[in-house]
Amino acid sequence: MEIFSNINNTYLNEITKKHSLDLKINKKPKYPCFEFKDEALQFSFTDKIFLKLDFLKGTINYRLQRAHHEKHLKKAIGKNKEPQLILDGTAGLLSDTLILLSLGHKVIACEQSKYIYLLISDAVRRAENQLGFLENLILVNQNSIDVYLEKENVDIVYLDPLFPQDKKQLKRSKSIYALRDILNLEKIVINDDKLFMKFNELKPKKIILKRPLKSEIIYNTPNYQVKGKSTRFDIYI
Ligand SMILES: C[S@@+](CC[C@H](N)C(=O)[O-])C[C@H]1O[C@@H](n2cnc3c(N)ncnc32)[C@H](O)[C@@H]1O
Repeated sequence: MEIFSNINNTYLNEITKKHSLDLKINKKPKYPCFEFKDEALQFSFTDKIFLKLDFLKGTINYRLQRAHHEKHLKKAIGKNKEPQLILDGTAGLLSDTLILLSLGHKVIACEQSKYIYLLISDAVRRAENQLGFLENLILVNQNSIDVYLEKENVDIVYLDPLFPQDKKQLKRSKSIYALRDILNLEKIVINDDKLFMKFNELKPKKIILKRPLKSEIIYNTPNYQVKGKSTRFDIYI
C-alpha cells in the first residue's frame, strides 16, 4: 500500500519502513491509499471518501468527556477496588478502548488489521498530549488470542466482534462500513463469530461480549446481561 504526502519526515519514514509501505512524496494519489495531510494519516478510498480518526473531536470526544455516564459499561465491568487490566480483543476504531481507559482501567488493545492499526496509532499519537489516560494503553497489531496467551494477569477480555449477519451493527456508524471495506482490501476474512468461542475455551476470569440488543444468543448462556438502548453486554464469568 502507498502513502502519499507533500512532506517527508521522520515519522513517515518510520511507519513506512516498519509496515512495509511505499512512501510517495509530491505525487498524485492513486486510490485506495494512505494520505498524510495536515499532520494526520488517513485512509482514502477516493479524493472525497476517506477514514481519518480524531479522538479530540466529535462523538468520541463527547463520550469521553462524560464517560461517567457510561453506566451500562460500568455495570458490565462491575465494582472493583483496583483498576482492571482489560484486553480489548477487537480494537477496531478504538472507541470502546478509549471509554474503558477514561474509566480508569488499563487496556491492551489488539487489532489484527495493519491498516486499521496504523490509523488508530496515528490518532493516539495526535491525542496523547491531551488525553492523559492514553499512558495506560498498550496498542498491538496482533491477533488478540496470541496476545492473551502471552499475558498472565488479564482481568477482563472485552469483545465487540463484527458479525456478518448483523445489519444493525453496520448501521451504528459509517466508520464501521469503512472499517469493513479496509478489511476486505487487506483480504482479512471476517470470522469474528469464532473469536468468542476461542477465548471461552481459554477460560479467562471474565468475558464481556458486546452485541446488538436484539441479536440472538448464539453462544453459551451468559452469566448475566446488561442491556442498553441499542446494544447489550453479555457477561461470562
Ligand atoms: C466491530 S470492530 C470493533 C469496534 C471497536 N469496539 C470500536 O469501539 O471501534 C471489530 C474489530 O476487531 C478486529 N478483530 C477481529 N478479530 C480479531 C483478532 N482475533 N485479533 C485482533 N483483532 C481482531 C477486526 O479487524 C475489527 O477491526
